[in-house]
This record gives sequence, C-alpha cells and structure tokens, in this order.
Amino acid sequence: MSESKIIGKPIDRVDGRLKVTGTATYSAEWPLENIAYGVLIQSTIPTGTIKAIDSRAAMKLPGAIAVFSFDNQPMVLAGGKGKEGEHLFLMQDNVVRYAGQNIALVVGESLETARYAASLVKITYESQPFSTAFHDNVARAKEARGHEKADRGDIAAGIADSSVQVSATYSTPTQSHNPLEPFATTAHWNGDSLTLYESTQSIFPTQSFVAEHLGMPPDKVRVICKYTGGGFGSKLSVWSHAMLAAMAARKLDRPVKVVLDRHQMYGPVGFRPATIQRIVLAAKKDGELTAIKHESINETSRFKEFVEGCCAVSRIMYRCPNVQTSQLLVATDIGQPTWMRAPGHTPGSFALECAMDELAYALKMDPIELRLRNFADRNYESDRPWSSNSLRECYRQGAERFGWSNRQQEPGRQKDGRILIGWGMACAQHSVWRNAASVRIVLSSDGEALVQSGSQDIGTGTYTIMTQIAAERLTLPCERVRFELGDSNLPDSPMSGGSTTAGSLGNAVALAADGVIAKLVDLASNDPASPLHGANKSDVLAENGMLYLKNRPQSKERFADIVERTGKNSLEVKLAAKPGDEQSNYSMSTFGAQFAEVRVDPDLYTVRVSRFVGAYGAGRILNPKTARSQMLGGITFGIGMALMEQTYVDDRLGRIINADLAEYHIPVHGDCGSIEPFFVDEIDPHVNVLGAKGIGELGTTGASAAIANAVFHATGLRVRDLPITIDKLLIAKGS
Ligand code: MOS
Repeated sequence: MSESKIIGKPIDRVDGRLKVTGTATYSAEWPLENIAYGVLIQSTIPTGTIKAIDSRAAMKLPGAIAVFSFDNQPMVLAGGKGKEGEHLFLMQDNVVRYAGQNIALVVGESLETARYAASLVKITYESQPFSTAFHDNVARAKEARGHEKADRGDIAAGIADSSVQVSATYSTPTQSHNPLEPFATTAHWNGDSLTLYESTQSIFPTQSFVAEHLGMPPDKVRVICKYTGGGFGSKLSVWSHAMLAAMAARKLDRPVKVVLDRHQMYGPVGFRPATIQRIVLAAKKDGELTAIKHESINETSRFKEFVEGCCAVSRIMYRCPNVQTSQLLVATDIGQPTWMRAPGHTPGSFALECAMDELAYALKMDPIELRLRNFADRNYESDRPWSSNSLRECYRQGAERFGWSNRQQEPGRQKDGRILIGWGMACAQHSVWRNAASVRIVLSSDGEALVQSGSQDIGTGTYTIMTQIAAERLTLPCERVRFELGDSNLPDSPMSGGSTTAGSLGNAVALAADGVIAKLVDLASNDPASPLHGANKSDVLAENGMLYLKNRPQSKERFADIVERTGKNSLEVKLAAKPGDEQSNYSMSTFGAQFAEVRVDPDLYTVRVSRFVGAYGAGRILNPKTARSQMLGGITFGIGMALMEQTYVDDRLGRIINADLAEYHIPVHGDCGSIEPFFVDEIDPHVNVLGAKGIGELGTTGASAAIANAVFHATGLRVRDLPITIDKLLIAKGS
C-alpha cells in the first residue's frame, strides 16, 4: 500500500461538532409524535413474590396512561421466551429473582407524570430467604459448565522444580459500567413492524433477539442507534427495559420511551461480577517460571451462568511449560452479570500481574527483568506464532519514558518530602478477533462517497476512522466521504465488543473501497469514450478522485465523469468480508506495559496516581487522537478499579446500596494526574488488510495491577483486595 495520507492522521472526530453542540440525536431524543413516557419500578426485595400491586392512586393522576405489571402484562410472551431471554423476567409472572428487577412499567403523557405516578404505586411483597453474599458462599462454588480444566504440562512437577514460590489470593469487587448516556429505548410500532431507537453496542444482535422474543420475523424489527454514549459491554445485550418498552408500545398503540435513571442502572442491566483468584507462581532462582496455577471464582446469578474468564491471561502471557487454570462459580440472588470492558482480562491481569510483582520481590529481581526472562515468544497455549508482538519494545520504551531506571527496588525508599512515592508496572494484554462485516459504498456522479454499514459508534470513533479508511482507499478527502451507521436497514455489521470494530469493519470498508476503484477501472478501460480505454487494468492508478495511467499520467479521468457516463447517477459496491485463516495460522493479540506512580501520605494513607505511562503495541493506529482517547479512558478505568470502584450489596437487604455516582466512585480529572499513553510502531501483516488490531479494551488491562504494585512499592503494604482504600491500607499497616 502506498504512503498513508489520511489513515494514521490525528483528525478530529467527524461527529465532534454534532456532539458538542448537542445536535447528535441519541436514542432518547427522537422527536416522535404522540410519544408516551415509561418509568420503571424495580423490586426492592431480592427474592419472593409480588402479592399485590395497587395502582389506583397512580391511575387517578391526570395524564397517567397505564401501570403494567404481572397483573396486566402488555404482552403475553407465548413461546417467545427463548433461552437467552430467561434472565429478563418480562413481567410474565409475579416472581422476584433479584433486587432491582423491573417489575412494573408506569406510562404517562409526560415524564413528570409517569415518574410521580410510579411513586404512588404500592407494591406488597412476600419475601423469601435469600443470599447475596459472595465471599461467605465460596465453599459452595461449582465448576462452570463448559470451562473444564485444560492443563498444560505438569503443575506438581513444575512446583517441585522451583526454588521460589508465591501463593496469594486476590479479589476484585462487583463493578458497575456507568456509561454517561443511560440506557434508553424508544419503541414505535407501525402495524406489525417495530422500530426501536435503542442505545446499544449491538444493532443486529438486538434486532434478532427482539424479533425472536416477540415472535416476529427479524425484518419486522428495525433497530436505530446513531450515537451511543458509552456502554463498556453493558450495551452488548438486550435488557428487560427495551423489551418492556416494545411490549407497552404495542399494547398502547403509540410510541413509548423508557430511559433508566442512574439508580436504575444498578441491577437490571448487568455489572462485572466480583472475583476471587488464587494464584501460585513458581520459578527458578534466575526467574524462569516453572508453574502458573490460577483458579478463579466469580459470582453469578441463580438463573444464568456468567463466567468472568480471568484465567485466560495466565495461559498465554508468559512462557511457562506448566500451567493449570480452573473456573468456579458461586450463584447468589443477584441480577445478571455481564461483560465489562476487557471482561476476564481486566480482573485476571490484576491478579496475575500483582503475583508477578510479588515474585519479583521474592526473587529480588526487577519486575521488568522477570517478565523479559519469561517473555512468550509465541502463544504456548495454542502453539501458534504471534501475528505480531511488540511487548519487549513496550517494556523498553515505556520504561524509558517513565524513568524506570531510577527506581529503587526496595519499598518505601522513594520520597518527596514526607510523601511516599511508589513506582509499579504491569502488563496489558487483549486478544484480537475479526468478525464478518459488510459494507455498501455509493459513489455519486458528483464524486462523493456514501459509505454505509449497520455498525455503531460507542464513543470510540467509528464514524471517524471509517471515514478515514474509506477516504484513503478511495483517494478522496474526508469531506467528500460520508460514513453512515446505526441502522439495521444498513448492511450487516457485527456488534461493537471485544475491541473488534476497527479491525472487522475497517477491513470491510477498505475492501469495499478497493472494490469501487476496481469497478471504476473496469468501466473506464472498457469505455471507448474514456481516455483510459483499452488500458491494462494493472496500469491504471487512482489519486485525488481520478484514475490515470501509470506511465502516461496525462491520460486521466475523474471518478465523477466515469460514473456520469454510466447513465446512472451513482455506482454501488456491496462487499461482505469474512475472517480469513489468520485466526488459525496465528495467535493475534495486543500487548502493553503499564507504569504507575503513586503518592501516598504516610499518616493518612491517601493514594494519588500522580503519573501513568502506558506503552502499547496494537498494530497500525488508524487515528492517534481517537486512539489516545481510548487509552486515556482505559487507564482511567484502571485508576477507578484500583482505588475506588465497588458496587456494594448490603447482604442483609440483598440490595445495592451505592446505586448512584455520589456513592459509586469513579475517577474525575483530579484523581488522574498525568496520563501518558503511547503506541510503539508495530506492523502486523496478518490481522487484516489494514494491520489494525483494535484497542478499546487494552488500556484497562493491567492498569489496576500497575497501581497496586506502585502502592506496594511506596508503602511495603500489599493489598490484594480491590479497591485499595485507606481503611485496607491502615489495617494492613496495623497487622
Ligand atoms: Mo466490551 S466488554 O467487549 O464492550
């Protein structure tokens, strides 16, 4: 490919202006006529039955339209209750399975009326015994189905062969996603066709899920989502509010809009489950790992298993012949856990990378040196070569930028006045996949390109990078390319999860654009009216919206003129790209090295992250500006995870008690210090035609471990239970 002119440039978000001026239409903002407002009522008990719902006072309010519940469900889902939907509980019976379950939907002429009416509904429950406690119930942990042990080598022999062992238990709490844009659904029926304006990461999976569960053909359900204000995995699934909005809109025969408020986002729309991870590392004196044992237990609901796959990272991160991992679950009376940014990798890398730090201290070895000794030069789990791997370069460049060589290995030695300074590091890793994706490009006779795919931009910059890719491959300026997404009427596109959109859809956009050029060459060379008539196709090149002859550049023709002469006002190419065999020939992954500096007050044990450097190898970076934003966000997630975030359940009540942003602490600017992410140059010839690996989740993996390791370096106190709060440090100091 020739030198990039547009890909790889830090261009501003093409949707930036719409967003900052408030004119980007989010899912709760479609101005539909005769819209009604739905407000959910959530159960206040975790388990039991609803004895009665008294909606008389609510329905007396002027403007109250309906109070739907199990008593008068808007739709009876005969046979439409598919396996995946069993966790949704769409008011088909009076049973309560967890606190926060949506048990009634109050609909009014205005949001205010609906909300006030909801407050007047009286619900009587019959409670049943329950348990939401995870740690207290570890004894009854069961093996997760389909996650049978798959050991490599001989763990006992590996431990016997070692001279140093580290054995420790790490735990991470329940965490809630908290995207800025709450969940929002506007449901609009037209005859037997449904349009859902839905805040989602998954246009097409939403379409098929809703169709299946409402017993409709998929082409009768249209899903529209032009902007998603963050999702972090929570919006990969269809949740009950969306189904209930559709059901109520059907019953009332008018559009119904349901927006969750911040409190309601804690319960019925997923969360990252708490984990307990037991790790054993064994190594020879020189640091060579001889055994890695990683057992992970996570909480899940009573009704659906969810595995937070923490052990995956331990199977591939280091060159170690003997690896044993196992996955256990504890089901309690909580809502349904789901994916949250780098599921598995995030809590898994916290445990593994803290254990590696502990091993480095046990060996009196620099943590980077230990990792270099155990560098995995291939994927020893799948026994495949990496498609590319720049981890060693990440260590080197990250350490240099951070100033790691000035670090004193012994904890508590670095100070600024009375403040303790700690420097810690950890690895980042995320796997790379590619999904099938399709794209349509319409090149008009005025030389502009419309590029379409039913993808979604979850805030990562999909609009922008797809515009760049199309513009570059079409040799047009970005201003002449419009990328359209967010509609199930557009060509099939995969969900935006697993950091796959850039690589999957980007690849398809590039190939579709190449297809447009090929078609233009074909048309011109076959057209006696073209200056390129009769040209050998391989001699025709494209530049600046024109085709020209390689050896005779004065023989050229504008795309617009070629399209014009077809007699149609546009030329269309539709392309469906499937993953190639790269996945079976290579192991594909992104890597990084995370470096944290913390400042700890020696009396109060307050911890501040003053500096963070992240060095990443992630293939070709399509847009350094939006890419940097992804890493800033990922590291900020890591700061939250390390020091603040925890969804608290009061096990006496079975309820989440910090269900808002006042009590569920996420980092703000003042918590972040200086964050400096950067990418090392990495060329990956295998992942896809662009060489782009996807970066949405990488930055948060290992970030909390780097901070925890820095806290240890500052204080000599090892807190293995996140978040690292003042009380835990004081207790560790006292003991
Ligand atoms: Mo991510 S948890 O795959 O949105």
